[in-house]
Amino acid sequence: MTNGQGAPTKGSAADMSRSTVLCSTYGELRANRGGTHPSAVVMTMGALHDGHAELIRRAREQVGVSGHVTVTDFVNPTQFAAGEDFSRYPRTLEHDIEVCHRAGADAVYAPSVEDVYGKSDVSTLTGRVAVDPGPLGDVLEGASRPGHFRGVLTVVATLLHLTGPDVALFGEKDYQQLALIASMVDALRFPVTVVGVPTVREADGLAMSSRNRYLSPAERAAASVVPRALEAAVAAAGGGEAAARDAGLRVLETEPMAEIDYLSVTDPNLGSPVPGPGRILVAVRIGTTRLIDNMSCEIGAG
Ligand code: PAJ
Repeated sequence: MTNGQGAPTKGSAADMSRSTVLCSTYGELRANRGGTHPSAVVMTMGALHDGHAELIRRAREQVGVSGHVTVTDFVNPTQFAAGEDFSRYPRTLEHDIEVCHRAGADAVYAPSVEDVYGKSDVSTLTGRVAVDPGPLGDVLEGASRPGHFRGVLTVVATLLHLTGPDVALFGEKDYQQLALIASMVDALRFPVTVVGVPTVREADGLAMSSRNRYLSPAERAAASVVPRALEAAVAAAGGGEAAARDAGLRVLETEPMAEIDYLSVTDPNLGSPVPGPGRILVAVRIGTTRLIDNMSCEIGAG
């Protein structure tokens, strides 16, 4: 990989021909990409794990060997409420660059707050232009984290402008986020294709997340209840929405360390569930760490 000045560093056999450039400003990023098409972006808040790496590998597949892949690495202040984990969110830039390099990225855009937001005050989104998520931004995660999706959509819209990709990849892990981004791109006519990538999991089924590192060993063991509850709900969904929810909740309730925020059965667009394809979404708190996950299901008539 290289730094903004362009000195290449070593890579493994699979990627040795490609250098990965660290760009801290929009100008550096533009210079790195030039007019290369097709181009893809993977947006992240860093602390990269194999779920992020999978998005980057898929991005490379989307654009081919001669296309351009940018990974944005930016802990976005406007999507954290006061009292959330913004200040303690893990920052691991050196490691992130290595992950990006191995997964086949051309550029890592790790900007300052000013590079993304200009001179506006980001301590609050009130009083500055922002993207309104609409009613879907107020349910599930939005109900627990007021203003969260306003911050997410505003930074995603801004980063789409700054990176100008043909394709943008997001994980199904954050299913409501993916749905909101797809609907923003459609509503505001961004000239970009949104691609969703299935959730990458640990051996015990826990969805990979930058926040998993907050868990103590006991909490980490308890966290496996989340995918187990989802599996149980998926298995029971043939019996209808209530059967799915009950089955999932029964499993969650076996784990005393898990404090349930919600377990919700919806249609694939997060609307009311009807017989046919559905989605089951869950949020729990284990200690001070909030975990979210979801799986697809087939809802029966009940
Ligand atoms: P972050 O949590 O870093 O996630 C970056 C991207 O990686 C998101 O699209 C997320 O859904 C995806 N991802 C995370 N864990 C995954 C897993 N286990 N399997 C597959 N994909 C996974 O989501 C954000 O950052 C931010 O809200 C962002 C979109 C960057 C805006 O600030």
